[in-house]
Amino acid sequence: MPNETATATVTATATAPYSRTNPFPAKMLVNRRLNSPDSEKDTRHFELSLEGSGLSYEVGESVAIYPTNCPDLVDELLQTLGANGNEPVPNNRGVPTTFREALLRDYSITQPTPRMLRAIAERASAAPLLNELLDPARKQDLDTYLYGMEMIDFLIEHPSAKFEAAEFVSLLAKLQPRLYSVASSLKAYPDTVHLIIDVVTYESHGRKRKGVCSTFLADRCSECPVPVYPSKSKFHLPEDSEAPMIMVGPGTGVAPFRAFLQERKAVGARSKAWLFFGAQREKSDFYYREEFEQFLADGWLTRLDTAFSRDQAHKIYVQHRMLGAAGEVWKWLDEGAYFYVCGDAKRMAKDVDAALRQILQQQGGLSVEEANGYVEKLKNEKRYRRDVY
Ligand SMILES: Cc1cc2nc3c(=O)[nH]c(=O)nc-3n(C[C@H](O)[C@H](O)[C@H](O)COP(=O)(O)OP(=O)(O)OC[C@H]3O[C@@H](n4cnc5c(N)ncnc54)[C@H](O)[C@@H]3O)c2cc1C
Ligand SMILES: NC(=O)c1ccc[n+]([C@@H]2O[C@H](COP(=O)([O-])OP(=O)(O)OC[C@H]3O[C@@H](n4cnc5c(N)ncnc54)[C@H](OP(=O)(O)O)[C@@H]3O)[C@@H](O)[C@H]2O)c1
Repeated sequence: MPNETATATVTATATAPYSRTNPFPAKMLVNRRLNSPDSEKDTRHFELSLEGSGLSYEVGESVAIYPTNCPDLVDELLQTLGANGNEPVPNNRGVPTTFREALLRDYSITQPTPRMLRAIAERASAAPLLNELLDPARKQDLDTYLYGMEMIDFLIEHPSAKFEAAEFVSLLAKLQPRLYSVASSLKAYPDTVHLIIDVVTYESHGRKRKGVCSTFLADRCSECPVPVYPSKSKFHLPEDSEAPMIMVGPGTGVAPFRAFLQERKAVGARSKAWLFFGAQREKSDFYYREEFEQFLADGWLTRLDTAFSRDQAHKIYVQHRMLGAAGEVWKWLDEGAYFYVCGDAKRMAKDVDAALRQILQQQGGLSVEEANGYVEKLKNEKRYRRDVY
């Protein structure tokens, strides 16, 4: 029963303060899909209760969530290994537990570790490709091969590779907590934290896969507590309360900006604030539309620009909206605006950075080197802040 195990993970003593090693067992108050049913995305709004925890956070910070693995995957691993789950093994702190419990909540059971792959290759009667790819010179090829592969695939593919339970867990990595940007202000929602989370599910090599923590929250937490602990960061509101701010947050990247806007309203901040939001489709994915339009109407937000990438034949992204309003972006920066970016690190944050440099050249009349210098100055003055993942 995953609910019982999750409870056990976070049972706190009355005297111990909650900490990274003793996360607070938060009650899930709300788990709501933000997209309409016809959307390609499953983005959730979660609300967790921090009541009685004594924990707090600042807007712009994150919380760490300690997930439990999917019990169906644990069952499949046990079956494939020919184990019944009651075998004694050490957990990730060396404390005795059962194999099933350890696979549920102590170890990472999706991404294979190099030492696990090596052990499979050594024991399997025939694993020529794996053996070849484990050559350090083939690291790049191994990474390509591993994309979308999970540990279960290798065990099914190599049934001759046998493991004792304790030996198997010794080859696994520790199950890590996942970070999520807070999407609310304690001033607006005392004792509560809101999160905006993309539920990771995909199909690879003919199997349905689930992101560990996002599906733990979406599907396996209705009754059990969610182990949570705040994580500090420097992604805060401007220290200068008069300074304008530009916020670029497509998709789940909008989370900290919703928190910023709630905080601005709570403290009565009247400096200029501009939000660029992007999503696939206006009709199905413009989450928090009413909230943002209300912030706009009430003056807590000065300007809202949206980019819906799939509402037309060609892609329109937040950086295209920035370039379309380049003169104004430059004016705001010149007035001392803070520039915030949150969301996807792989592509979006890089493209937004390139658009920013383009604007500096076009509108500020700067050379490439001068624009780069301007960005360095923004960073040194802590006016260019990124929370990307
Ligand atoms: C500071 C910070 C703040 C964050 N804030 C947020 C937030 O507000 N909202 C949010 O949703 N996330 C946020 N994240 C990301 C979050 O921490 C998790 O990484 C995310 O939820 C995925 O975790 P998971 O356990 O569900 O998936 P995991 O089990 O960790 O699986 C994710 C992995 O699956 C693989 N994968 C995913 N899709 C595919 C595919 N199509 N094909 C093949 N492989 C694939 C990739 O290897 C990927 O890294 C933040 C991260 C950081 C560091
Ligand atoms: N590392 C992690 O753990 C983690 C966690 C969550 C999300 N992510 C990744 O972050 C990305 C965003 O996820 P999300 O759910 O927050 O948002 P999302 O809804 O997937 O994307 C938001 C918007 O950003 C657009 N976009 C795509 N590429 C872009 C680019 N280069 N520049 C600007 N906008 C771009 C999307 O357009 P199109 O989709 O139409 O191209 C969409 O309109 C995904 O790729 C996801 O895999 C990673």
